[in-house]
Amino acid sequence: MKDAQHLLRVIIIFVAALVGFLLVRSFLVPESFGKLGHYRANAVDDVLALPRHYAGEPACKKCHAQQASDKAKSSHRHMSCESCHGALQAHVDSPKTVKPSKPKENEMRAFCGNCHGKSLSRPAKFPQVDLEEHNRGMACNQCHQPHQPK
Ligand code: HEC
Ligand code: HEC
Ligand code: HEC
Ligand code: HEC
Repeated sequence: MKDAQHLLRVIIIFVAALVGFLLVRSFLVPESFGKLGHYRANAVDDVLALPRHYAGEPACKKCHAQQASDKAKSSHRHMSCESCHGALQAHVDSPKTVKPSKPKENEMRAFCGNCHGKSLSRPAKFPQVDLEEHNRGMACNQCHQPHQPK
């Protein structure tokens, strides 16, 4: 029967394509795919193995309890240490050799002004000062303790 032959060819092509697809797929899909979800489970370990830059406040607390407890009682309590001092995992790993940065005296007004300089774009209730007028020429930390500004 001529018609059946047509069908047979189509079926053979489909089966060949399916086998080809499964073969290629078995090579391309990573081994751990689907173990935990629709992704490569080993990716979790890969990300964990990346170098850390930020240590997080609990790490700082162990050696700088005073600064941590001052800050916890102040209006800066919701700010993390590293938002002012920079990423410091390297300092946590070797505190003697890696010195953290802290804003220098002559940069202090610009540093605090990043958040507290008067600007219409800030919520009106956020504490702001006019940098041109508020105790001009003096570093902010001469009067405000950065870890306990209020
Ligand atoms: C294992 C203990 C340890 C940990 C953890 C640690 N530090 Fe330190 N830190 C030190 C030591 C020691 C010094 C040096 C003190 C000195 O030389 O007077 C220091 C100094 C500093 C200084 C002052 C630098 C200066 O020039 O005065 C800052 C700021 C600082 N650390 C911030 C942090 C922050 C933020 C964290 C958390 C990310 C942190 N530290 C975690 C031990 C530690
Ligand atoms: C609002 C920004 C800010 C935050 C948040 C902050 N610091 Fe500081 N820190 C400063 C500034 C500014 C100085 C420099 C003060 C000075 O020289 O008088 C400083 C100085 C220090 C010093 C040097 C010693 C001292 O007390 O002057 C240490 C240690 C320190 N910070 C640790 C920490 C730790 C630990 C945290 C988190 C618990 C933290 N800081 C959070 C701004 C900040
Ligand atoms: C990353 C942003 C940020 C930086 C940098 C920063 N602050 Fe603040 N500051 C805050 C926030 C947030 C508050 C809490 C505001 C609130 O309670 O609504 C605050 C509160 C304060 C207050 C209390 C104001 C009040 O009336 O309650 C003072 C004073 C102050 N900061 C001074 C400083 C000084 C001085 C520096 C520099 C050493 C500094 N801040 C750096 C974000 C910042
Ligand atoms: C000579 C001391 C002195 C210096 C220097 C100083 N301040 Fe103040 N600051 C004060 C006093 C005192 C107040 C409280 C006055 C008030 O509530 O009206 C205050 C209030 C503030 C407030 C709260 C404003 C509010 O609306 O609640 C902020 C924020 C502030 N200062 C940030 C800074 C910043 C940022 C710098 C550095 C650019 C700085 N101050 C420098 C003495 C100082």
